[in-house]
Amino acid sequence: MAEVIIVADAKAAGALVADEIVGLIRHDPDVVLGLATGSTPVPVYEALPERLRGVDVSRVRGFALDEYVGIDPAHPESYRNVIRREVIEPLGLDPERIHVPNGAISTIEHAGEDYERAIAAAGGVELQILGIGTDGHIGFNEPGSSFASSTRVKTLTAQTRQDNARFFDSIDQVPMHCITQGLGTILRARHLVLLAFGEGKAEAVAGAVEGPVTASLPGSAIQLHPRVSVVVDEAAASRLQHADYYRYTYDNKPAWQGL
Ligand code: F6R
Repeated sequence: MAEVIIVADAKAAGALVADEIVGLIRHDPDVVLGLATGSTPVPVYEALPERLRGVDVSRVRGFALDEYVGIDPAHPESYRNVIRREVIEPLGLDPERIHVPNGAISTIEHAGEDYERAIAAAGGVELQILGIGTDGHIGFNEPGSSFASSTRVKTLTAQTRQDNARFFDSIDQVPMHCITQGLGTILRARHLVLLAFGEGKAEAVAGAVEGPVTASLPGSAIQLHPRVSVVVDEAAASRLQHADYYRYTYDNKPAWQGL
């Protein structure tokens, strides 16, 4: 099962995951990282620049989880721009090596296949950062998504559009469609690191970690993966039945084990 790490706050989670990522880059300068957008991964991205001082990041590669379909590429909330602003620029990565699914309508028919090919050609993702939606989605795999799915177009649920309206002037501006790595794609990454903060995520986290494995809660797909770290604050952990066991396990974790 997933290793569940309950931390004091988002900053502590960011530090923990950033340390792991820096270790990976030092070990393999060509490492392929799986990048998430939204609010959740921000503490990780904010913790990285100071830790990467003096580290060669020129060859690091990355693949974002998703993009809105048909969004103006110049829109500040297109994930291409979010990744540039929050990851590429502050970390000093090579923009040529960091990929975001192409949400342009003119090429959307083959954009999913193109993305899958690019991930495979890079040798797959080493560490995939994940957030989780209040409806249990990972990437933008909304309830009902196949566990075998690859990168493809999905329709965002009303709840996800409502949740993401905070990034736009109004809910009407939140795109209806997205292109997202599939659950199958995500499960092919070698290490999944799912982060969640706040009471609003507690139910989705409990379902993903302890609930039945079901397409109705796509985050539960993590239970099928051999190496998963779930890093949550107390509020997001508040609905976990076995929280005490997770704390006990982490407190007694051997020093030689990484994240
Ligand atoms: C973002 C993504 C989504 C978000 C999820 C949570 O690339 O794939 O699954 O991780 O919607 O969003 P936040 O972090 O904004 O609460």
